[in-house]
Amino acid sequence: MKKLLLIEANGNAGEDLLQAARNLGVAVHVATHAELYEKYPRESKDKIAGTVFTDFRDLELARKALVEYSRGNDIDGVITGWEFFSSLATQVAADLGLPAHDPGRADGCRNKRVMADLFAECTVPSPRTVHSATLEGVTEALAGSGLDYPLVVKPAENAGSIGVSVVHDADELAKAFELAQGWPLEFPHGTPLDTTVLVQEYIGGVEFSVESVIADGAITHLAVTQKFTTTDNSRAELGHTVPADLSAADRATLLDTVEQAQVALGLRNGISHTEIKLVGPGEARIIELGARPPGDHIMKLVAGATGISEAEAYITVALGGVPDLAPKVDRAAAIRFLTPPRAGVFRGVTGIPEGVDIESEVYAEVGAEVGDPTDNVARIGYVILTGNSPDEVNQLADDVVDAVTVEVDAG
Ligand SMILES: Nc1ncnc2c1ncn2[C@@H]1O[C@H](COP(=O)(O)OP(=O)(O)OP(=O)(O)O)[C@@H](O)[C@H]1O
Ligand SMILES: [Mg+2]
Repeated sequence: MKKLLLIEANGNAGEDLLQAARNLGVAVHVATHAELYEKYPRESKDKIAGTVFTDFRDLELARKALVEYSRGNDIDGVITGWEFFSSLATQVAADLGLPAHDPGRADGCRNKRVMADLFAECTVPSPRTVHSATLEGVTEALAGSGLDYPLVVKPAENAGSIGVSVVHDADELAKAFELAQGWPLEFPHGTPLDTTVLVQEYIGGVEFSVESVIADGAITHLAVTQKFTTTDNSRAELGHTVPADLSAADRATLLDTVEQAQVALGLRNGISHTEIKLVGPGEARIIELGARPPGDHIMKLVAGATGISEAEAYITVALGGVPDLAPKVDRAAAIRFLTPPRAGVFRGVTGIPEGVDIESEVYAEVGAEVGDPTDNVARIGYVILTGNSPDEVNQLADDVVDAVTVEVDAG
């Protein structure tokens, strides 16, 4: 039986990876924190063959410890389910001589400062960016850059849109800069984060993400996902649909641009999740690329739409195998997040239809305080639907969202 090291199985991608390893008959060793492991669901713990409790507050020490553990336990492949550890997974795999991306560029797949520099060096279509760890530094860099408002301010190394703002003048820039530096440590492992702040050109257009598998340097795109967000001042995500409803030309533009990013970042063995905006005919810009599983259950959507398991492909490539990436079905799948109509005390959800093509989860507890539906934190659950085409599944999703009531009291 092959042995896999999974660096952190926390979260829904971790659960999908554990299930995929079980399907493939692979034994999984998980690197995590002891207190976090305690909180893993029973179904996850049942799928774990060994644990290595690792101090992630110093990634260089964690890298050495995991290489030593892997040598001692005959580990055959290394993956991660946690985006903060995607560079670490590449480095540990490379140290062991196992399939990996280019370890010299691994930081560029996570740290947006390194990513922006590599994109600029390799002329990958992406927002023009300046960065500095001080407000004076970015102000000075902006002065000579030709960049103008609106601008996007973001931390080099966070996730979930934390600290990301669109700004329209120098006052807003100063506030957004401070906000972007507000999270110097990753949660829950306490890994120190680069406090450099990026200021970049605002890219208009429509946003998509692309899921890809890279095996021995050969790139296969599994799916293009369309992202739906609120269109007022807030940018809460409403959901995603796979596949995106796109013309062949637009799809080719997106995939060609993603490939330029993948080459620039040295992707060779693994998977990537690329966020990209289509700005016009033949023109797209990369927002970011992560060498990791996507969030928001997108792997489930890819499986529902194509029959391909991205999680199994990731594991197969990490073990040096050749994944089967041929689509098994030609359908469509969508996720829509359930959010409260306003802030208050959560009282429950009514109206979720039942059916073979619907999966749902409500994770808020009755009696919990919930926020306004202006950000992703306010989500209280989701529904996943499948249909025969993007049009059909988007219509089904609209109907479900209309039928569902999220009950909230003033408290
Ligand atoms: N330069 C930009 N121009 C326009 N929109 C942007 C730009 N940068 C980021 N965004 C928008 O903000 C979102 C979050 O930005 P980004 O992906 O860089 O941060 P993140 O913390 O990784 O967030 P997430 O986990 O939600 O992807 C993007 O998905 C995109 O919609
Ligand atoms: Mg992002």
